[in-house]
Amino acid sequence: MRKNIILKHEDMPRQWYNILADIRLNPPLGPDGQPISPEALAPVFPMNLIEQEVSTERWIDIPEPVLEVLSIWRPSPLFRAYNFEKALKTPAKIYIKYEGCSPPGSHKPNTAVAQAYYNKAFGIKKLTTETGAGQWGSALSFACSQFGLECKVFMVRVSFDQKPYRKAMMETWGGECIASPSNLTQAGRVALEADPDTPGSLGIAISEAVEAAVSDSTGQTRYSLGSVLNHVMLHQTIIGLEAKKQFEIAGDSPDVIIGCVGGGSNFAGIAFPYALDKINGKNIAIYPVEPKACPSLTRGPFGYDHGDTAKYTPLLAMHSLGHNFIPPAIHAGGLRYHGMAPTVSQLVEEEIFTPVAVSQIDAYKAGLLWARSEGHIPAPETCNALAHVVAEAEKAREEGKEKTILANFSGHGLLDLSAYEKYLSGQLSDLELDESQIEKAKKILDQHPAPERIRR
Ligand SMILES: Cc1ncc(COP(=O)(O)O)c(C=O)c1O
Repeated sequence: MRKNIILKHEDMPRQWYNILADIRLNPPLGPDGQPISPEALAPVFPMNLIEQEVSTERWIDIPEPVLEVLSIWRPSPLFRAYNFEKALKTPAKIYIKYEGCSPPGSHKPNTAVAQAYYNKAFGIKKLTTETGAGQWGSALSFACSQFGLECKVFMVRVSFDQKPYRKAMMETWGGECIASPSNLTQAGRVALEADPDTPGSLGIAISEAVEAAVSDSTGQTRYSLGSVLNHVMLHQTIIGLEAKKQFEIAGDSPDVIIGCVGGGSNFAGIAFPYALDKINGKNIAIYPVEPKACPSLTRGPFGYDHGDTAKYTPLLAMHSLGHNFIPPAIHAGGLRYHGMAPTVSQLVEEEIFTPVAVSQIDAYKAGLLWARSEGHIPAPETCNALAHVVAEAEKAREEGKEKTILANFSGHGLLDLSAYEKYLSGQLSDLELDESQIEKAKKILDQHPAPERIRR
């Protein structure tokens, strides 16, 4: 029985796959409602990353120093989850791409390392960012430590309180971690004035981090985003590209692909290389999975909206619950984001991806079954993906159909045990949005120009 399908170091992909070669997006818009020029982003990002953001070249070389750092944990394993299959009594074959083996414990350093490298190469000294669950903040702190950059992280208040060890981790790598909203920025002060007890949101924390970067008078600080943007999705495609090589070794091929979505990056990583096959006619079902408490893809309208609460970012064409939406304080902090990557949103519009939403309780139920059958304790975000793996495996059992499922295991949950404690003691509840929230989102998006309906 071959359980763990390992790639050799020499077989690590040397190029990222850029989906912008194969799809067309509505352009980001500036405050005047006109497409923004790449130069307008220069105070926020280094020009080498801005060039990557707008590139339409299909294959982009991964720089050698990036490959060197990635090789600390990559290629990551793909393994067949025989015990999970047995526990579910399913005829489906379930494969998992395991991204929990990076130093911070998730897929996030795949882009953090690349972004730190490009900033360093551009002469930048310090990066600011936000973090939800703490995975991204720790990934960027780790990456900055590898390239000798300073790092300042605004961490969403509710996660800051729930996950104190994430802060310790960031500080261990030399980063600074501040609870958001904070008094350090105008955006933070406005949010605190509106509600001094706010749990915070990724939208507010992004505003704080952008403001902290652009207001730094040295000109040597830039902002770094762990999801949503095209270059972040690009860097994550190493996940799916490795998985494809591993499936070749296994002599198999997936019919179903599953990943959880917050801003869309780990899902894009596993799914984009396969999306190209689907665009070219292959029959594959591809499911982005989100929590019912923050259902941007399944219930949020598609339109132009800001990526952050204070409206510092350009308008992006995406599925959104409204830039001022504060999601309920669910434990999958990395999935508490109002918007979604424009690339993922566009492929949902084109029906290449089929979004689904799962409940918090079903997510932990699946996570627990996973931990008890396969061992690794999944991050709360990853549990959402596993909940849909369970649904697909059960469907296969009911239909008596063999199928091959590939899911991305975006991170381990070893610093999320308080959430498991709550689940095990029956203290977790399900949270679903009522329709009035969706109506509010529609009103916000209606204030902006309507995106073109791009179809294939
Ligand atoms: C373990 C884990 N999975 C998933 C996510 C969601 O982010 P994304 O949709 O960009 O992969 C996060 C975000 O923090 C995370 O920490």
